[in-house]
Amino acid sequence: MNVEKGYVDAPIPEGIDLRQEILRLKRERNAVIMAHFYQRDEIQEIADYIGDSLALAQLAAKTEADVIVLCGVHFMGETAKILCPDKKVIVPDLSAGCSLADSCPADEFKAYLDKNPGYTVISYANTSAAVKAMTDVIVTSSNARQIVESFPKDEKIIFGPDRNLGNYINSLTGRHMKVWDGACSVHEKFSLEKIMDLKRQYPAAKILVHPECPKPIRLVADKIGSTQGLLNYAKASECSEFIVCTESGILYEMRRQCPDKTFIPAPPDDGKCACNECAFMKLVTLEKLYNSLKYMAPEILVDPEVSKKAVKPIERMLEISKSLGLIK
Ligand code: 13P
Ligand code: SF4
Repeated sequence: MNVEKGYVDAPIPEGIDLRQEILRLKRERNAVIMAHFYQRDEIQEIADYIGDSLALAQLAAKTEADVIVLCGVHFMGETAKILCPDKKVIVPDLSAGCSLADSCPADEFKAYLDKNPGYTVISYANTSAAVKAMTDVIVTSSNARQIVESFPKDEKIIFGPDRNLGNYINSLTGRHMKVWDGACSVHEKFSLEKIMDLKRQYPAAKILVHPECPKPIRLVADKIGSTQGLLNYAKASECSEFIVCTESGILYEMRRQCPDKTFIPAPPDDGKCACNECAFMKLVTLEKLYNSLKYMAPEILVDPEVSKKAVKPIERMLEISKSLGLIK
């Protein structure tokens, strides 16, 4: 078996029904398939659970399966492994990274923390295990505001790595957190001009924006929220048209849950640009998922010493989220 490329590079037997075989292997291995909202449609369709980063962490912490197949990016697999060190955690393509996590190298973050002692460190889930190990509490876009607000107003906070989410929370809460200068390359690429063109074309449409987007995009939003938050808003809204400013994978679940509503990806998919797609998320395919279950690889491994430290801020996030009623 060859996993040099980050996934099991083995031929798919001819004539098999890939979906049926995935389901059979899943039962045989007592595995659970979890997928992020940005995964390809066919992966979301076959998964046992789909969700945002917070839901996936919570599901991993609770699952009784022996094997977690995390269809998402590397840090999501690491989070599941840190929460379930005794389980096998598989990400069908280990090279599925995250530009935001990469914008915060652990050694540089450590040097920054050493230069700024006495701060509470709040990190976004889109970080490596090594960065999480230096963190006091993890947040996702579903709970970041509330978790920041759970600290006293004068708490000295370092927030990393997303400058857009960090600055957004500062503006909402009137805090002055020091914000790491990182960003997601997908969410930074949305064009305000194209969004406004769409708004002229669909004047009744509500603009849904992920907080990883820069301020000019956030300023035109009707709703800013995590992937789950945007989905909830669209479901509850009386409006029937939405311009969606986040990775376009979320449109699968939006259209599934709201078949009578219209969801328009921003920028428009004009065939010239797929920059509203996260190339990392799209690395997971049905073929890779099949081979990962067949060969039980590639497995996510986290250094036990790092894991022991990193689990604390993740569990703290889950506890605070529970106590605030954000999760059950
Ligand atoms: P959510 O937690 O909102 O799903 O976001 C995860 C992510 O990677 C956004 O780019
Ligand atoms: Fe990372 Fe951006 Fe992809 Fe989300 S969309 S996984 S933040 S690169």
